[in-house]
Amino acid sequence: MSKQLIVSQKQKFSDWQEKNIQNFSIDLSFAEVPESERTKHVHRLHPYLGKFIPQLVEVFLKKYFQPGQMILDPFVGSGTTLIEANLLNMSSVGVELSEFSYLITKVKTQKYSVELVEKEILDILNKTKEFSRKIQKNQRSLFEDWSFEPSEYFKNWYHPRAIKEIYFYRSLIPNYQNQDILKIILSRSARSARQIPHYDLARPKKPVKEKYWCLKHKQYCEPINNAIKFITRYSLDTIKRIKEFDKLRTSAKIILLQGDARKIKLPVKKESDGIFTSPPYLGLINYHEQHRYAYELFNFKEYPEAEIGSPNKNGNDNKERYKKDIIAVFRNMNNYLKSGAKIFIVVNDKHHLYPQIGKECGYKIVDVFHRPVLMRTERDNNKFSESIYYFVKEG
Ligand SMILES: C[S@@+](CC[C@H](N)C(=O)[O-])C[C@H]1O[C@@H](n2cnc3c(N)ncnc32)[C@H](O)[C@@H]1O
Repeated sequence: MSKQLIVSQKQKFSDWQEKNIQNFSIDLSFAEVPESERTKHVHRLHPYLGKFIPQLVEVFLKKYFQPGQMILDPFVGSGTTLIEANLLNMSSVGVELSEFSYLITKVKTQKYSVELVEKEILDILNKTKEFSRKIQKNQRSLFEDWSFEPSEYFKNWYHPRAIKEIYFYRSLIPNYQNQDILKIILSRSARSARQIPHYDLARPKKPVKEKYWCLKHKQYCEPINNAIKFITRYSLDTIKRIKEFDKLRTSAKIILLQGDARKIKLPVKKESDGIFTSPPYLGLINYHEQHRYAYELFNFKEYPEAEIGSPNKNGNDNKERYKKDIIAVFRNMNNYLKSGAKIFIVVNDKHHLYPQIGKECGYKIVDVFHRPVLMRTERDNNKFSESIYYFVKEG
């Protein structure tokens, strides 16, 4: 980047900062918010690329809505809006197309018998640990009747020991009541147990099978050879996080639906007070590919035709098609919004599509805020920013 560009970018960021501080008393980059706060309780039950920082949702919901109101999110993803709305005693309705993202959000938002959750997580963990010890000592006798055929994906990306531990855990899941939670623990463990370099967790290109120079740790690292380490860590972590949210949650209702937000019917009337959402960005993330390990493990159905903006072979990332799809979603949501409802859309709108999209949905633009996005997993912090469009529904 040239010196001049860097200077003008810095100026732009400081202008945004000034406006955001005036409006919200915070600069919206959330650079000062510690990692533990940004990933508090259920927000870190499973990694999710493109997830909101919970504090961003909190700031907007607090400023523009009241406890007791109802918020919609037609692109739920990993559920940040629904969780933050609940904490502020606002009810919410969310829609998500991907069966896997839907599962993540379902697990985060459901009310549990916390004692049973803990008992089941520890029970399946202990059985898998015992299995892991046996396979290391080559004592398979206890598990002789258990057989499996790993998928090509697993053969490619995992150590044979990790594959056995993951598949063994999966084979036990049907024995428990809290199967969805166990699936999320296993999926998170499978994500971490892939043989990928530590510095490339978000978008790995190929497996590492030998010792490699690690850009993150500045030393030689060994490729991962087991999954039980992660299954153990995430089992305990999940218990802790579910207990934490259980203590904080309010009785505000959360309705979560799986389906295509362009067409889905919501079980509410024209009673919602607003939307806080972030649509898929044009051509940026293929959400199925992101979580391929989970799709391989649990055979989730894919909906490539309906996945808006996805860089897949159906051309969903064609600009005109994207616009049409997004308009269809918000027009559908209009059936459930009061007149004067407030609509917040968080998006990296580099093609400047959203002013037109808003107009075609019957929305009047009130303001646009901008924020720099600090990408902790990428090496260049200056490139990313997003806009938050604030619209009001007319009529
Ligand atoms: C940017 S993400 C939302 C992330 C979310 N704000 C969070 O905090 O996790 C956009 C989501 O839209 C979903 N999506 C794509 N097409 C959809 C459709 N037709 N209907 C509903 N959801 C869709 C994607 O699966 C993805 O989870």
